[in-house]
This record gives sequence, structure tokens and C-alpha cells, in this order.
Amino acid sequence: AHQWRGIIAEYADRLPAHLSEKIVTLGEGGTPLVEAPALSERTGAQVFVKVEGMNPTASFKDRGMTAAISAAAAKGAKAVVCASTGNTSASAAAYATRAGMVCAVLVPEGKIAMGKLSQAIAHGARLLQVEGNFDDCLVAARKLAEAYPVELVNSVNPDRIEGQKTAAFEIVDALGDAPDIHVLPVGNAGNITAYWKGFTEYAADGTASRTPAMWGFQAAGAAPIVLGHPVTEPETIATAIRIGNPASWAQAEAARDESGGVIEAVTDEQILAAHRLLSAEVGVFVEPGSAASVAGLLSRAERGLVPAGARITVTVTGHGLKDPQWALRTADGGEVTPTTVGADVVSIADALDLA
Ligand code: F0G
Repeated sequence: AHQWRGIIAEYADRLPAHLSEKIVTLGEGGTPLVEAPALSERTGAQVFVKVEGMNPTASFKDRGMTAAISAAAAKGAKAVVCASTGNTSASAAAYATRAGMVCAVLVPEGKIAMGKLSQAIAHGARLLQVEGNFDDCLVAARKLAEAYPVELVNSVNPDRIEGQKTAAFEIVDALGDAPDIHVLPVGNAGNITAYWKGFTEYAADGTASRTPAMWGFQAAGAAPIVLGHPVTEPETIATAIRIGNPASWAQAEAARDESGGVIEAVTDEQILAAHRLLSAEVGVFVEPGSAASVAGLLSRAERGLVPAGARITVTVTGHGLKDPQWALRTADGGEVTPTTVGADVVSIADALDLA
């Protein structure tokens, strides 16, 4: 029987050799590509979701982190640092502790989801809440890594992009060719950069016959690439992508333009509607930031901008259990409270309308 060995071992021939010197892995990658009939019906296309919440720390960051931490281990690094809206910190903390390294984490105070905060703390990170937003945290993390003996493991570290590009490989490997369109949320813009690199590399050597159009979506209150200027006070309920000055801005624009794609904004309402639809009809529970991709796809479908019959893959980046509170909200902003019943079967059947 074949056991998935993690992305570095599985794709070693397509990754820089230094990543294989001292592999630190938790078995990341090999995530499901799930057909989504509910989305296909609504868009007139054939839609699949790449469920990245199935990674070891429940987000796509693990693909980049196995690479960044393995590279740091090969160099003999003792400590790493990252700025994070939550998922990077959870992933960095897990891989760093596995490698016996200290992990310092800078997060925007009060603006990261509870699941992610608990993960980082559980894995022993030195977590500091910074009075500022993610962009302020990243500036500080970069300066810290320049001045002190700590490796920066944000996606400005090229090893992160190398690791994350393997998700594009997996999609092509699963479908037998590249999709027509690939859709994903955009925050600091590392992931769109990584997917584009992966799709481009597969097309360059003929493993895929083409590259997909890249469709990226930012939250409307944190949409610097769409607006064409940094946003000094980004705001959205999708805290994962609450970013006003993405580090890989230029690379995201290149991916958009070279692929014939788009980067657009979706509102928090659209994000929450897509979040509900993914849970209720597709059967995949994601965090709000991940639902931005589906929100964007549906918005373009409503405007008649999805080509009929197109094969579309959508990355849903993080698990719903990271930030579960949103499932307990109704569409009109009310609270969902489960009905309480007696322990007898009659009351239960009655409450279930079975009688
Ligand atoms: N979705 C989720 C769930 C994320 O956590 C992130 C980024 C993104 C999408 C956007 O990806 O930054 O590569 O464009 N989270 C980072 C973090 C910023 O710190 O966890 P991106």
C-alpha cells in the first residue's frame, strides 16, 4: 500500500535540492480534489474544490512550511519568525516544534481566529499580539530576521512558494491536465504566486497542455490589488485575508495578466453566503477567508462571465473549525440555537417532524 510521504518526498524532482537535505514533514499535501455539483449547477461549468483544510494543521500553509522549515533545518537554524493572520503561525509553530526550533509569531492583536491562536500556543510558539495589523507585523518580522539570528518563514521566503506550488501539480495530476480556470482567495498573494509557478512549470515541460486563467478574490474591505493602492486600515470578517499591502503584489498581478485572469473583490456578505453554500450543499466546511474564492466564482457566474462547460478548480484554503463561529449565524445575522428536547424518543421524533 502506498502511504503519501509529504510534498517534498513526493515532488522532490520538481523542487530545489536543498529542501531534501533534512526533510521536516507532517505528511502535508495529497489533499482531496472534490467535485462540487452544487457549484457546477450554479455556474454552468464543471467545478472541483481543492480541500486544503485537510492538511496537517488544516490549511494550505503546511505545503510552504515543510519547505521553509526543512530549508532552515538544513542551515542549522535554531529559530524562525513569521507575521500571521493565524494560519501561517499555526503551521510554523507545528513544523518548528517538530524540528526542535523556537518559533516566534507576530499576530495582529484581537484579529486572529481562536482555532489558529490555540494551535500556535499548543505547538509552543512564542506568540506576541502586536498593536497593529498584519502589514505592520510583517514589516516587524522582516526587520527582526535581518537583525537577529532567526529565519523568516513568511511567503516572501522563496522556499514557501516552492512548497505551495505543489498544489497546482496535484490538481493537474488528478485531472490529467490543467483546468481552464483556477480560483483562489488572495491575501498576502503568496499562494496565487505559487499556483501560477506550479501551473507554468507543468505546462513548460508538457506535463500539462496549457495553463489556467487565474481568478483571485480579495475581501472588499481589504482589496489593495483591486483598488491599485495599499489599504491602511483593512477590514473584513475574513481575518485570514485582512491584509492591506500584500508582499507578493507584483507577482499576483503578473499571474493575473500572464494567465488572462482577473483579481476582483467580494463583500463580506458574499463571503458568508458562499461559506453557507459550501457547508450546506457541497459538504465542505471552510473558514470565511477560503469562501472568498467561491464567492468570487459565483459573482462572476451571476454576471455571465463563466464560460459554459469550463473545467474550474477552486482552492478552499483553510478548515471551518479554525473559525467556527460563522456557522452559528443565520443569513439575516441571527443566532442559531439548537432546540432542546427531553431524552424520550417521542419528543425527539416530534422535534424532527417525523411523527
Ligand atoms: N486563505 C487563508 C485561509 C489564509 O490563511 C490566507 C493567508 C489566504 C487565504 C491568502 O493567501 O496570503 O498567500 O494570498 N494567510 C496568511 C497567514 C496571511 O498569516 O496565515 P495568500
